[in-house]
Amino acid sequence: MKITVIGAGNVGATAALRIAEKQLAKEVVLIDIVEGIPQGKALDMYESGPVALFDTRIFGSNDYKDSENSDIILITAGLARKPGMTREDLLMKNATIIKEVTQQVMKYSKNPIIIMVSNPLDVMTHVAHTISGLEKERVIGMAGVLDTARFRSFIAEALDVSMQDINAFVLGGHGDSMVPVVKYTSVAGIPLSELMPKEQIDAIVERTRNGGIEIVNHLKTGSAYYAPAASAVEMIEAIVKDRKRIIPCTTLLTGEYGIDNVFCGVPVKIGKNGIEQILELDLAAEELDALQKSAALVDENCRNLKSLLG
Ligand code: NAI
Ligand code: 2OP
Repeated sequence: MKITVIGAGNVGATAALRIAEKQLAKEVVLIDIVEGIPQGKALDMYESGPVALFDTRIFGSNDYKDSENSDIILITAGLARKPGMTREDLLMKNATIIKEVTQQVMKYSKNPIIIMVSNPLDVMTHVAHTISGLEKERVIGMAGVLDTARFRSFIAEALDVSMQDINAFVLGGHGDSMVPVVKYTSVAGIPLSELMPKEQIDAIVERTRNGGIEIVNHLKTGSAYYAPAASAVEMIEAIVKDRKRIIPCTTLLTGEYGIDNVFCGVPVKIGKNGIEQILELDLAAEELDALQKSAALVDENCRNLKSLLG
């Protein structure tokens, strides 16, 4: 297993180290446009191997040739949000970067699975799919796992129970229009609505929607990376170990949920072939409406990129 991480910034470097510490690959290649950064960070990580107990070879480079024959490519390159910026503010700049990155990685790997992290997430996944020409099952966006992790952590904190016992789904685009699905949220199988008053659930839903900006407002110089990296690595682990996990990921919908030809976050089965199944939940009318509205926003942004994507 060879995994290449593009972008040696906060998310990319954190993810590379987690991949090594979980021994998910024999080789991890970290690539960035800035000279020295991927080399220095990769060497530093590699030197932690004897004490952190892993044998993964971590290698940093500015040359895409070093990504040759990767099984999985995690794309985290691009600009991150600063206070006052929406994910959409990043649209054109990051689309240009993701187009170039995808062209480069596809020169050296025939049939990789691409996991997208860069924002605006759903649109960047669309860019990578369009440019790579890969099957839709092999180009996957990371957002739902993160948004759901935030939702689950807030519920665990409010109820003072283990995070492990919270099951939930946050669907839709990665942005203010995301859709936390309360009907499918439970604590050890007990519906959340039996454990918490509606006003408290609504407040947690709202905090989840604003989870990204809450961190940006604290950090001031960038956006979240520990939970995002952990979320991307959960997807990678499901692929590497063919675990057939059912988790929310961004995938190209072709009619499911009444949404056609738009990347959107929905529950999927994820294993060695990437997305192996899309699960269609029986959503309440207002949740389905919110999901479709969220997808329409993604579609509108993708249309704005027509000139870039040809
Ligand atoms: P960062 O600024 O720490 O790292 C980005 C890295 O990309 C930098 O090292 C930069 O040199 C590199 N880069 C820029 N242009 C490049 C190019 N053309 N080729 C190769 N590398 C290039 O940012 P961070 O915090 O790691 O975030 C990365 C991206 O992930 C951002 O777009 C951010 O908004 C997004 N993000 C998405 C999340 C999600 O849930 N999908 C969660 C967290 C971050
Ligand atoms: C987040 O949700 C910035 O999209 C990133 O933290």
